[in-house]
Amino acid sequence: MSKAFDVVVIGAGPGGYIGAIRAAQLGFSVACIDDWKNAKGGPAPGGTCTNIGCIPSKALLQSSENYEHAARHFKDHGIEVKDLTMDVTQMLARKSKVVAQNNDGILYLFKKNKIAFFHGRGSFAGQGDGGYQIKVNDETLTAKHVIVATGSNPRALPGVAFDEKLVLSNDGALAIPEVPKRLGVVGAGVIGLEMGSVWRRLGAEVTVLEALPTLLGAADESIAKEAQKAFTRQGLKMHFGVNITGVKTAKNAVTVEYTDNAGAAQTLACDKLIVSIGRVPNTAGLAPEVVGLQLDERGFVVVDDECRTNLPNVWAIGDVVRGPMLAHRAEEEGVAVAERIAGQHGHVNFNTIPWVIYTSPEIAWVGRTEQQLKSEGRAYKSGSFPFSANGRARALGDTTGLVKFLADAKTDEILGVHMIGPLVSELIAEAVVAMEFRASSEDIARICHAHPSLSEVTREAALAVEKRTLNL
Ligand code: FAD
Ligand code: NAI
Repeated sequence: MSKAFDVVVIGAGPGGYIGAIRAAQLGFSVACIDDWKNAKGGPAPGGTCTNIGCIPSKALLQSSENYEHAARHFKDHGIEVKDLTMDVTQMLARKSKVVAQNNDGILYLFKKNKIAFFHGRGSFAGQGDGGYQIKVNDETLTAKHVIVATGSNPRALPGVAFDEKLVLSNDGALAIPEVPKRLGVVGAGVIGLEMGSVWRRLGAEVTVLEALPTLLGAADESIAKEAQKAFTRQGLKMHFGVNITGVKTAKNAVTVEYTDNAGAAQTLACDKLIVSIGRVPNTAGLAPEVVGLQLDERGFVVVDDECRTNLPNVWAIGDVVRGPMLAHRAEEEGVAVAERIAGQHGHVNFNTIPWVIYTSPEIAWVGRTEQQLKSEGRAYKSGSFPFSANGRARALGDTTGLVKFLADAKTDEILGVHMIGPLVSELIAEAVVAMEFRASSEDIARICHAHPSLSEVTREAALAVEKRTLNL
């Protein structure tokens, strides 16, 4: 096989492997390099998302939700479960199987699209007439175009390294071998809430310590308030405005020292501690200095709006560059960059990238929040509708939450849609499509939605913008 390629992608996370597939579809010769190893040392493409992120976390969320339904909600349906038990080893084995299926799926896609896959760490080795030289294991590849898609790593508390036994990153949080009695979580962000939910549902007493004064600062305030109420009702303990001053580990326990929002010294004793305080870009081993690839002061690869770096024909996408650290954002950038290399007009609309938090209730949004519109001084109108007034939600036995529309006061164009409730991870897609087509709230209000369905809540919220809901 020739070692000269039109496109070499470094990293096979959702950004890298999708970018590689799109480039191959466009007729380029493509190589993709990734160093992730499975338990046997073999290749495990898919990156953080597939191995220790999106996919395994959703597998555990599903298992723990099933358990919680059996433990708490089945009896409402007349179903009695005697001697219910939770086999954590089996739950983790199922999670690993789901991950492996996804790894295998990506290897199959590489073959199908004739992408040369190299298992190892890729690093810049130089630049010459034929393009860039990339070293992987003992081989040197030449690339006309390079796409850097090397992802991110968890951020540790200063001076507190992850040991993955007591102090856990997302990696350890997805592999706790038995339900801890007391689980501490530092950071009430997306990972803290999702992983906190998994272990709380299985019986852990979960306490979350958050530096900011409120929950989910990036979400619409009204949705964040609903979420806080729901999580508190479920027994999740959350302390806001804390300052972590120390973490001490003993043989089987962790003590977190912090000051609370009144400045008083406090301690939290727990059996395991998840630290989920954000992620940092990963360029370890890439050797960006060899070719002069520019990084910013926080270690992100510097790119323009179209993912061009400071070097000609070197592109960077996903978690290693600015923007929300989301798998679907990385994928969109991968597709767009491949199309730009082909001289097409790849496009990523940052205004319509949805956010989903897979807790129960689920949280999802797209576009502007009410607080953003206020601070921008934009005139808007809003309408919301609760799941408690929806027949399908009642039949499901899950009536928490609401859908809220924000629309331009004059033109009625939808500016943001915010959801909390059952299966809003799926419902948000309608709002994304609507915003991508620059629909008005009236457009959604006039569309026939199936009855009975949760999507009727979306339509009713759109009707609520003009204060004409039908079922409330
Ligand atoms: P990554 O997925 O990090 O992949 C980068 C790959 O490059 C890795 O395989 C890495 O080993 C490899 N690599 C790095 N350097 C080199 C090198 N020099 N040579 C060879 N290979 C290299 N996002 C969502 O949208 N939805 C979710 O539900 C979601 N859940 C998440 C849950 C958790 C617990 C975590 C931690 C993250 C979650 N995310 C979620 C975020 C999502 O995982 C990331 O945004 C996404 O993986 C970023 O994709 P990427 O391709 O940029 O990088
Ligand atoms: P995050 O950015 O979502 O949340 C981190 C939280 O920690 C913030 O609330 C922050 O204020 C707090 N924090 C920071 N420093 C702190 C400190 N010293 N003490 C106490 N609190 C502190 O980051 P998280 O949860 O680590 O997740 C990383 C990223 O992974 C997310 O931003 C998201 O992009 C992605 N992700 C996406 C998911 C999804 O789409 N469903 C699921 C999980 C992760």
